[in-house]
Amino acid sequence: MKLTNEERRSMIDLANEARKHAYVPYSKYPVGAAIRTKSGRLFTGVNVENAAYPQTMCAERVAIFKAVSEGESEFDVIAVVTNNGGSPCGGCRQVMAEFGLDTIVLIADGNGELKKEMTVAEILPEAFTPKHLL
Ligand code: THU
Repeated sequence: MKLTNEERRSMIDLANEARKHAYVPYSKYPVGAAIRTKSGRLFTGVNVENAAYPQTMCAERVAIFKAVSEGESEFDVIAVVTNNGGSPCGGCRQVMAEFGLDTIVLIADGNGELKKEMTVAEILPEAFTPKHLL
């Protein structure tokens, strides 16, 4: 799947806008994510931290779980925005891989600048996927 620059821009802007709602009293590291489903629906997510630190949930997983909980599990693209263009954690990569290795991952910084673009297969080589359980 090929993205236009306009599509990149709008996904990154959506994730960056969502990032304003990140609940990050502990890390002060807001993360925003935006997903577009193959059917064209948009979902956003932010990281939600907790005083019991391990209960924190990452932005990417919030966005993915919101989509799945509304019946959408095929994704074209996921944009992730952090202050410094940080990369999705291993856990989020694994959750992305569950729903398709061809999904495009856009990684951008707080100015909305695209830092990296890759597929899930590239960001998580040798992924363990549902196929392995057949
Ligand atoms: N975080 C995300 O939301 N996504 C990632 O892929 C990496 C880390 C969050 C978790 C925590 O709230 C903060 O960033 C610092 O780790």
